[in-house]
Amino acid sequence: MIDFDETALENIQTARKIVFFSGAGISAESGVPTFRDDLSGLWAQYDPMELATPEAFARQPALVWGWYLWRRQRVQEAQPNAAHIALAEWQAEQGDRQIICLTQNVDDLHERAGCSHVLHLHGNLFTSLCAECTHTVSEDALPEEHRAGAHDATFHPQGQEIEPPVCRDCGGYIRPGVIWFGESLDSNVLDQSFELSANCDVLIAIGTSGVVQPAAALPAIARDSGAYVIQINPQETPLDSVAHWNIRASAAQALPELYARVREG
Ligand code: OAD
Repeated sequence: MIDFDETALENIQTARKIVFFSGAGISAESGVPTFRDDLSGLWAQYDPMELATPEAFARQPALVWGWYLWRRQRVQEAQPNAAHIALAEWQAEQGDRQIICLTQNVDDLHERAGCSHVLHLHGNLFTSLCAECTHTVSEDALPEEHRAGAHDATFHPQGQEIEPPVCRDCGGYIRPGVIWFGESLDSNVLDQSFELSANCDVLIAIGTSGVVQPAAALPAIARDSGAYVIQINPQETPLDSVAHWNIRASAAQALPELYARVREG
């Protein structure tokens, strides 16, 4: 049980605009590994931070594409957990409030839980694009053997290298449509995220290590603009000093409890 902070509840209940800011920790209880978890199989010998770069793709496209196909399969097999569902229900019952989800996650578990307003700061696993001409390719438009779900769960159980498909327009390699380390975020998404954070009444950061910029700056932007900041994370993070209230619990436990308490009034 969470030890509820009455000031926090009051702030949530009177808020007109609430921003949820999620990271990999919200999907951890769905079985999607965070960036700090140890990987298994072929991937155990790699640091995810070293696979998620444009240099890694240029050097070893089959290795990086194979890793992302494995990740897409893991995500497709996963189900939204109680935290994704509570957030979606909260949003569905927003009435005349504005409740937005800003996520650093590249999975689609917020959407599959029923969230309607989701901004993906770091892109989307299920939209690929040409590394040369940036032509985008939806999951359904990929050649069948490159689609998550085209194989059963026993295919690539440990992961394998797979040569990426090539662009029908220019012949370049197709790459995952996610933001890699060293790349800029979509300026439209970033501007909207800064604006929403600067204008919200409450920001709730969930399951993020709070170290990857510029996204990690959003809770401080909200706080500096007068918002009440809450963090849900079982571990200490640099956001501890930004948050007014730190809930040391897992997302799937804390978020449904928080939502239930807020609904009670
Ligand atoms: P990280 O993998 O860096 O951190 C996950 C956080 O979730 C940690 O602080 C954990 O303590 C916390 N956590 C783990 N299990 C949890 C649970 N059940 N409930 C709540 N919290 C839990 O993930 P992000 O902060 O999302 O960027 O990482 C930020 C970005 O760095 C990612 O979007 C990705 C990454 O490398 C790019 O790919 C550009």
